[in-house]
Amino acid sequence: MNWVAVALTEDVPPGVVIPSRIEDTDLAIWCTPSGRYHAWSDRCPHRGMRLSHGFVRGDTLACIYHGWQYNEEGACDYIPAHPKLTPPDTICVPTYTCTEAGGVIWVSLNKTDSALPALGGRKPVRSLPINLSANDLAAHFGAEDYTTIAVVSDHDVLIAVQPCTDNACMAHVLASPDKDRTTVSRWLEDLRATLEGMPS
Ligand code: FES
Repeated sequence: MNWVAVALTEDVPPGVVIPSRIEDTDLAIWCTPSGRYHAWSDRCPHRGMRLSHGFVRGDTLACIYHGWQYNEEGACDYIPAHPKLTPPDTICVPTYTCTEAGGVIWVSLNKTDSALPALGGRKPVRSLPINLSANDLAAHFGAEDYTTIAVVSDHDVLIAVQPCTDNACMAHVLASPDKDRTTVSRWLEDLRATLEGMPS
């Protein structure tokens, strides 16, 4: 698996952590106060609390349960109940390759060295969950699989597809700056209604 879009940067401002997911891998996506993005396993090494429920404190992510803090490498560097203890190196969160480009946060679960998708100067419009597998969404546009990002000619829209579960995905939609965002957004909602078999 190469790069997967997991969120738009406008939805993860500095100092914020959110949950996300790529197939069966739960992720905590967070942004340092200075704007560096991270994608981690969404599970605290202590007792398994979701780190996406935690807090960004400076350049660390703190678990909401017992307050263990993890630095940007995912290593635990502070345990409130034992403030004088230097936590052992073995206490660390699995981290994934994460970067920002074009207003989208991209993650690779397998440390890919492939290039990021070309966005053609398009800008993010919105993200929308769709109750359809990522591959079925791609197939709707004639793509072989979801890693082939669909370009829809009607609106010159590009969809970065995030596989979430066997029957759900997230569509991160980008469009040319001269396109009306409201029009594109309504088009996306109509698309979802059609794909989910619901009245728009
Ligand atoms: S479960 Fe995270 S600090 Fe205890």
